[in-house]
Amino acid sequence: MFSKILVFLIFSIISKLRSEDNLISYNVYYIPGIAEKEENTTISVFKEAQSVTLDKNCNIKKLSKEMFNITHTVFNFYVAGCDLIEIESNFLQDQNVSTKIMITDTKITKLKTHTFVDSEVEIIFLDHNSIEIIEERAFVNMTNLAQIFLNMNCITRLNRESFHNLPRLAAFRMQYNQLKTLEKSCLSFIKVDNAKVMLNHNEIVELHDGILDDLQVEKLFLYLAYNFIETLPTNIFDNRSLDTVDLSNNKITVIADICKRCIICHLLVYDNPLNVTHYDKILEFGKLNDIDITGLDFGKNNSHGFYTRKFVIVLILCLLLSPSSSQIISNF
Ligand SMILES: *[C@@H]1O[C@H](CO)[C@@H](O)[C@H](O)[C@H]1NC(C)=O
Ligand SMILES: *[C@@H]1O[C@H](CO)[C@@H](O)[C@H](O)[C@H]1NC(C)=O
Ligand SMILES: *[C@@H]1O[C@H](CO)[C@@H](O)[C@H](O)[C@H]1NC(C)=O
Ligand SMILES: *[C@@H]1O[C@H](CO)[C@@H](O)[C@H](O)[C@H]1NC(C)=O
Ligand SMILES: *[C@@H]1O[C@H](CO)[C@@H](O)[C@H](O)[C@H]1NC(C)=O
Ligand SMILES: *[C@@H]1O[C@H](CO)[C@@H](O)[C@H](O)[C@H]1NC(C)=O
Ligand SMILES: *[C@@H]1O[C@H](CO)[C@@H](O)[C@H](O)[C@H]1NC(C)=O
Repeated sequence: MFSKILVFLIFSIISKLRSEDNLISYNVYYIPGIAEKEENTTISVFKEAQSVTLDKNCNIKKLSKEMFNITHTVFNFYVAGCDLIEIESNFLQDQNVSTKIMITDTKITKLKTHTFVDSEVEIIFLDHNSIEIIEERAFVNMTNLAQIFLNMNCITRLNRESFHNLPRLAAFRMQYNQLKTLEKSCLSFIKVDNAKVMLNHNEIVELHDGILDDLQVEKLFLYLAYNFIETLPTNIFDNRSLDTVDLSNNKITVIADICKRCIICHLLVYDNPLNVTHYDKILEFGKLNDIDITGLDFGKNNSHGFYTRKFVIVLILCLLLSPSSSQIISNF
């Protein structure tokens, strides 16, 4: 009862302040601890609120449909740091959230089928949770959704079936997870030209044949740096149009057979144990396909005397340091 009065008071004060101040720039409703004290409290939203925020003082275990009555459209729906372990399917059904859903620092391990359905939102931010499994059709029918953030979770599989009918999805981030392989056609849910797929910092050892099958977009940006990829299937990028492919910091020794006909504007291969005896073949491949290959770094086994990136950095450092060191000397 007391907490209800408190919440009422907070809202009253905020509303009062706002009515006296026509500049509605800071306009976030903050509902601390509400579900902790009143188990079945419905979270309603008052006029002029821009966000529903449940933050680390809350003790919510489950996000369910019954919790919300968002009649007035809010831009953002934030949950951060709650003890959340479960999200009910379609938990925001018919709720009026227009722009961004952010759920972060929680203990959820699974995104169930139909977790996010038919929403108008443009961004779904789920970084830094404990998500291991994303069931099939967890994300469905969102016509405005442009960005999905799933960084820093424990996801082991990128399943295209999890993402269905997202016609505007232009940035997909699943970095710092535990992906081991990429399967055939795994990116076919991407429908937008120039889309960015960021899968850096995973544990990908193997790329299956045809990872880009059923993908009809131009100029994809594909980031696969900081993985454990050793070999690339022959012609993996054949007939594809990519803007950037970042394969830096992997364990690749040979890169010359990745396509016969393809458009790749930028191919980044920094910090791979490239086999120096393939150097000419790699250069020829780049020239033949008009690919700008950056980071041809043959590491320490540099029998052909090509300058490595590290060497250039050391050289620049020396040049930068030398005037100041001579100055120090002249001061003595
Ligand atoms: C909350 O709702 C559930 C199911 O609707 C009910 O079983 C439970 O007793 C309610 N708890 C309180 C504190 O009213
Ligand atoms: C939601 O809020 C509106 C207006 O505040 C109210 O009329 C309605 O009964 C509420 N719905 C539920 C399910 O609580
Ligand atoms: C969301 O807004 C629409 C139209 O403004 C309204 O018909 C609908 O009832 C609202 N949803 C909720 C849960 O209040
Ligand atoms: C998604 O949209 C399709 C086509 O409009 C519809 O048949 C399907 O039922 C929708 N799925 C969900 C989960 O709403
Ligand atoms: C690319 O297209 C050519 C000509 O259509 C075809 O012969 C070749 O098999 C294709 N490559 C791949 C990997 O699908
Ligand atoms: C460099 O050569 C040494 C032996 O000559 C070998 O053990 C090492 O794996 C090579 N490193 C790379 C990056 O190829
Ligand atoms: C480099 O490639 C050559 C020719 O393909 C091969 O004989 C040699 O074993 C390779 N070296 C390494 C370290 O993989």
